[in-house]
Amino acid sequence: MSRILVTGGAGFIGSNFVHHLVEHTDHTITVLDKLTYAGNRASLDGLPADRVTLVEGDIADAEIVDDLFADADAVVHYAAESHNDNSLNDPRPFLDTNIIGTYTLLEAARRRKVRFHHISTDEVYGDLELDDPARFTESTPYNPSSPYSSTKAGSDLLVRAWVRSFGVEATLSNCSNNYGPYQHVEKFIPRQITNVIRGIRPKLYGAGQNVRDWIHADDHSSAVLRILESGRIGETYLIGADGEKNNKDVVELILSLMGEAPDAYDHVTDRAGHDLRYAIDSTKLRTELGWQPRYRDFESGLRETIQWYRDNEAWWAADKDGVEAFYAARGQ
Ligand code: NAD
Ligand code: DAU
Repeated sequence: MSRILVTGGAGFIGSNFVHHLVEHTDHTITVLDKLTYAGNRASLDGLPADRVTLVEGDIADAEIVDDLFADADAVVHYAAESHNDNSLNDPRPFLDTNIIGTYTLLEAARRRKVRFHHISTDEVYGDLELDDPARFTESTPYNPSSPYSSTKAGSDLLVRAWVRSFGVEATLSNCSNNYGPYQHVEKFIPRQITNVIRGIRPKLYGAGQNVRDWIHADDHSSAVLRILESGRIGETYLIGADGEKNNKDVVELILSLMGEAPDAYDHVTDRAGHDLRYAIDSTKLRTELGWQPRYRDFESGLRETIQWYRDNEAWWAADKDGVEAFYAARGQ
């Protein structure tokens, strides 16, 4: 049994990972989370108190970080400012958390000699043309577009440098778009589901031709656990489940799964610098570490997710009006 420190474990993917660890391992888990607007204690409700502890704090606070690393066998680093639209509005917190925060964690990993896994995104690779047969691989050159993705790219490079220069025992993973329970209502899929629940028409940026490569958050968690257990130090693994869909098709599917006319949505102002297409080739993870996704049917995963938002209105209701006011001010 190990002690795992999960940064950002009160956020969307981090909390899904904590639930996954509780269900599939004997590890004890400490969550370090600043509880920003995106963190939610309620995402950890129902987990056993003797296995999961939440510490409220900033990953850029070297003192708290050092204390927690002293008691950890491994660290999985999810904490980040994660939303592209926010990064276009105010990039500064992205630098503080994604760059300085990651640097602070790496220094602690170096001092305390703790195994480190860094969570990153496929957005570091930029975007692909719609008709390009290529997908991202571990050797695709970095070419990030937004303040968010450029700070994630910077954090990845810091991790690689700390492995090479200081011998930190780290692995990295870059995953495609996640969906599932506990995702903040600012993000595409939960925004549209909660819009329909509230009687608001879904909002599609531009023509909606942009493609995202969807993976269920629980499949992301199983892949991260596999890398933590068996990944080679210094290596990067791409995580994806062959889930390419354009945004228009996803909105139409949400509407029809929720019993509405599939064209009952609005086209709104496009995102500045909007990446066209992401697509992951996860051959390395599948062949080297034998990982496979469990959710292979997007429609049934989406149906479950819609039901989760219907059943858990108390989890998201307090955030909804503020998010819609933010978007309305941007014409989105
Ligand atoms: P999220 O915004 O839902 O959660 C982020 C969490 O980090 C929140 O709980 C927040 O309170 C916490 N946090 C933010 N700043 C902090 C700080 N300074 N110190 C401590 N905690 C802090 O994000 P998410 O969608 O769960 O993404 C988690 C990670 O996964 C990020 O690193 C992101 O880049 C990466 N990722 C996300 C996706 C996706 O589709 N959402 C895909 C690939 C990779
Ligand atoms: O690819 C991984 C990335 O996926 C992660 O690194 C990010 O943290 C995560 O937020 C996500 O980034 P995206 O920008 O792709 O996700 P978002 O949910 O913001 O948007 C998904 C797509 O939907 C994108 O093409 C923009 C579009 N969109 C978004 C919103 C919020 C709309 O059309 N309408 C909307 O209301």
